This record gives sequence, C-alpha cells and structure tokens, in this order.
Amino acid sequence: MPQVQAPYPATRLRRLRRTPALRALAQETTLNVGDLIWPVFVREGVDVMEPIASMPGVYRRSIDNIVKAAREAADLGIPAICLFPYTDASLKTVACEEAWNPQNLTNRAIRAIKAAVPEIAVMTDIALDPYNALGHDGIVQDGVVLNDETVAALVKMALAQAEAGADILGPSDMMDGRIGALRSALEMAGYQDIVILSYSAKYASSFYGPFRDAVGASGALKGDKKTYQMNPANRAEALRLIERDLREGADMVMIKPGMPYLDICREVKDTFGAPTYAYQVSGEYAMIAGAAERGWINGEAAMMESLLCFKRAGCDGILTYFAPAAARILAAK
Ligand code: PBG
Repeated sequence: MPQVQAPYPATRLRRLRRTPALRALAQETTLNVGDLIWPVFVREGVDVMEPIASMPGVYRRSIDNIVKAAREAADLGIPAICLFPYTDASLKTVACEEAWNPQNLTNRAIRAIKAAVPEIAVMTDIALDPYNALGHDGIVQDGVVLNDETVAALVKMALAQAEAGADILGPSDMMDGRIGALRSALEMAGYQDIVILSYSAKYASSFYGPFRDAVGASGALKGDKKTYQMNPANRAEALRLIERDLREGADMVMIKPGMPYLDICREVKDTFGAPTYAYQVSGEYAMIAGAAERGWINGEAAMMESLLCFKRAGCDGILTYFAPAAARILAAK
C-alpha cells in the first residue's frame, strides 16, 4: 500500500531515527528467541566435542553433550533443536538401512533429549544422505536417484523417528510425494500430532558445502543434487512446491538456503500465510563466522542483522547455527 505523506520539509523521515527510543517505536519487525531452531551435529562417543573446520564455533557432539546442549538451549528459551547425524562410514550402504534402524544415532539422541529435556521440541532430518554409501538423499540405481523407492524408505525412517519421540519431522530430500506419504503413514500409526516442517523449496545450492563436511557426506557424493533440488533461477516453481506440500499435509514450510532467497520467503509468506521458515545454511554461517574470525566484519552485528532480515522478509523463524549465540545476546538486552 502506498504511504501518503506530505512533502519535505513537513515529512522528514529522519525524525524517527534520531534517538534509540524513537527508533524502537518505529521498528517494524523484531527477532525473538522463540523464532530460533538450532541445528546440531551428533556423533558416537562419550564427552566428544569435535570442531568442524569449515564451521568455526560449530561441533560434532556425542549424545551426552547433545543432551547438555539441549538443556542449554531450553534454558535460553530456544524452542527447538534439530539433529543431524555424523554416521560412521562402515554403516553407509547403497540401500541405506541404517536410516530406519530404531537404534541409530539420531533415534538414540532423540530418546536421550526427550528423557532429560522434555520441554524442548526435537526436530529431525528426513533424507538418506547420512546413511547412503553414494552420498545422495535418495536411493541410487544405475546413477539415477529413484523417487518412489526413496519415499518408501523415508516413511520407514520417519516412523522410527516418531517412535523415538521426535516432535517435528523435517523432510529435506526433495522427492515428489513424500509429504503425503509421510502424513498418511503417521496418521495410520497413531502419530497424528507429529509436525511436518517440509523443506519445500530447497535449492541445489553451493552453500551446503560445510554441512556435507560436518555430516561426512562430502567424500561419498558424486555429482550434484540437481535432479531433485531446485534450480536457483526459479521462483514460480517454489510457490508450486509450497502449495503442494501444504495440500499434502505439511504444517510448516521452509525455504533453503536463506539469505540469497529472501525474495522467495516474502512471496511464500504473502501467498500462503503458513508458518514459514528459512534455513540459514552452513555456507551462510561460514561466510559470517569466517569473515568475523579474520576481523573483516563485526561477527555479532552481522549475525543479528542477518537474523532480523529473515523476520523482515516474512519468516516466522530461522534454522540457524547461531541460535545459542543470538539467544544470549537477546537475553542480555
Ligand atoms: C541433506 C541436507 C543438507 C542440508 C540439510 N539437510 C545438505 C544437502 O542437501 O546436501 C544442508 C544444511 C546446511 O548446509 O546447513 N538432506
């Protein structure tokens, strides 16, 4: 809507920028701790905190330390934590069976968190890449990522996570039909209250590199994910995907990566009004954290600005590796 205003000098927009008090009154959007979902990396072992070189300040944690992280997050007011497993290479197969093992790393971590920190929502990732000897999110046959066979595997994976106590399932695989398949399997198994946060508009992006190091998938992956993840050039397709996933039973939708795709976030929120999330992915984190480490930018200021911009773009919340750091700054205010 056009904002009618008297011409200068009756209107001087700088009036409302003169002091912190006036700027606070004129502020249109805010970042709250309740907007944050914290992605974390789980690995085997006891009392392990293993740094990830391409993500300064981010660690792979053993389950005991994941539980401590969940406690810390809950105490800071962060509503949800999202688990990604670093799977031992010996457990990766072409059929990806470890993905639906009730005792796999993710499922053990879910149970441990829900036992110790029941108030935090536990989100999971649904995709086969951490368990796939070939590194792809789906089952590969003769070099092709199979859609329907993958969806059947994802359903088994989701039911194992639901059984372990997950609150929010995050399908990040980009197969067609997976949201409907997951939703009906959950309904039939009595898990009618489990939330699906669909990675609906997930682009084939070069910003996922550090994440693939973090979960140990970089070595296995041959080629790229362009036959299932979206072309970064496309906008209308994102809207079709979001609409489809909402119709199939997604509760919340996600755009990923975040910062290069804020136009998509705005359009999705305006078009559907559904709970809309963005994933500030590993490469975005690395750019800010890496530049800050070198003294090239003010890391804290850049972090808070980037997160606020997601809110301005219409997002209801953000998956971000900065969640605890941002929550501490918000708490100190
Ligand atoms: C894989 C998955 C990826 C991310 C989340 N789930 C990587 C990929 O698609 O290759 C990326 C997250 C990040 O970069 O922070 N299913």
